Amino acid sequence: MSKGRFITFEGTEGCGKSTQVKLLAERLKALGHKVRVLREPGGTPIGEEIRHTLKHSQQNHAMTAEAELLLMNASRAQLVREIIRPALAAGEIVLSDRFYDSTTAYQGYGRELDLEQVKSVIDFAVGSTRPHLTLFLHVPAEVSEERLRSRQSTLPFVRDRIEEADRKFFERVAAGFAAIAANEPERIKFVNGAQPAENVCVRIWELVENILPKFGRW
Ligand code: TMP
Repeated sequence: MSKGRFITFEGTEGCGKSTQVKLLAERLKALGHKVRVLREPGGTPIGEEIRHTLKHSQQNHAMTAEAELLLMNASRAQLVREIIRPALAAGEIVLSDRFYDSTTAYQGYGRELDLEQVKSVIDFAVGSTRPHLTLFLHVPAEVSEERLRSRQSTLPFVRDRIEEADRKFFERVAAGFAAIAANEPERIKFVNGAQPAENVCVRIWELVENILPKFGRW
């Protein structure tokens, strides 16, 4: 078993993951840990090109759900082998903003692809590389929509194909995350993302601390 720790953050748009990944990385680094921060899709040069194709390319309007599933997992297969496995083997703490639960939620529940087939594709992409802990940041749909609107109004407009999906799609994604979290309570921890960021951060630290001491010198 590798020496490192692999922690993933999941949730719907605007759940506050990215802020919390940064805060946790800073805290771990301040304690002397070697920390690797990643995002999906992306995280490698190949993955970032795939991310552009998935989200922002001007040519991506006709993308099918099947192609979307495979591209997400092509990016993931690269990230796992190029970065995650070597980092874990070197004893680093790897934090990823999204991982395969997003595929189950978005492509499985959201796009309504067959869940068994989605699982097979994920298994092929990640092999035995699985998160030790997954933090599922939950926010109600209204909070998610409001945060998304305010983010879109402050940043220069960049088209995002996935964010263009309709409300029903995001309701299925949210229900999907809830189902995934309920199925794997040992790995996936529910965090109320609607609280002020400082409180979310405190809760996350309690959960992360729990998995750190199992690692000898920590
Ligand atoms: P984000 O980095 O801003 O969260 O954007 C990533 C988008 O990609 C987000 O809309 C969720 C979506 N996504 C999937 O649909 N499937 C996946 O497997 C992953 C990792 C992300």
